[in-house]
Amino acid sequence: MRIDVVSIFPEYLAPLELSLIGKARQEGILDLHVHDLRTFTTDRHRTVDDTPYGGGAGMVMKPEPWAQALASIADERPEGAARPVLIVPSPAGERFTQALAYELAEQDHLAFACGRYEGIDERVLEWSREHFDVRPVSLGDYVLNGGEVAVLAMVEAIGRLLPGVVGNPESLVEESHSDGLLEYPVYTKPSVWREREVPAVLLSGNHGRISQWRRHEQFRRTAERRPDLLEAFDAGKLPRADRAELQELGYDVVDGRLRPRPAAGGDHGD
Ligand code: ADE
Repeated sequence: MRIDVVSIFPEYLAPLELSLIGKARQEGILDLHVHDLRTFTTDRHRTVDDTPYGGGAGMVMKPEPWAQALASIADERPEGAARPVLIVPSPAGERFTQALAYELAEQDHLAFACGRYEGIDERVLEWSREHFDVRPVSLGDYVLNGGEVAVLAMVEAIGRLLPGVVGNPESLVEESHSDGLLEYPVYTKPSVWREREVPAVLLSGNHGRISQWRRHEQFRRTAERRPDLLEAFDAGKLPRADRAELQELGYDVVDGRLRPRPAAGGDHGD
């Protein structure tokens, strides 16, 4: 996969030389290029921002340096290759999820445009649609100072899904969000640590019981920490043991979806 990142702070992306992503680059699995937006300016001060039309606080990124930078990336596309996807990190974008990470990991070429200040002149996004599939993407409902930190997170989440990046691909199957649930808790030696014992079932050697316990823990943890995920979970084909566990946690299956059981008591209608 090829990835291009455009930023006014290319040093911010230095961690992408480390660990599994750095190794994937060395091994040629990931061809990652970071570009300094200021190299695409033409004035003496290398200006990338200006005041917003209509007034208001802060500065807006000027369109022309972005057009130059993005055109140079689009021009490198090999003859006949599919249009690259241009991801624009923004709190106003669609939510970045594991499902989107899987979708983007299928692409041959991704580009990331890191905005700063109040954002990039909107016309850049319109113009970019001639050359890219443009996707404004948000990491979550909070505001960062710029797109760089979001790119670090997204490139790591996408890059680790590329074949050969994570040594044991099975670890991708059992982790949080791969099946719509949070991951079960994990333990290692010693079996007793500061008077706290590892759950006995994990020492039993009974793989059926261990799987069932882990599944139960996934449901329990998801119900406690992320009930929104449980309500989005496809419960249509759940085995009876799972349904029983979910009932204990206060959920019923209604039309293939999990619904929290209303609390007992309340209005009896008279
Ligand atoms: N830039 C600023 N805030 C952001 C967010 N929440 N997600 C992605 N990019 C951003």
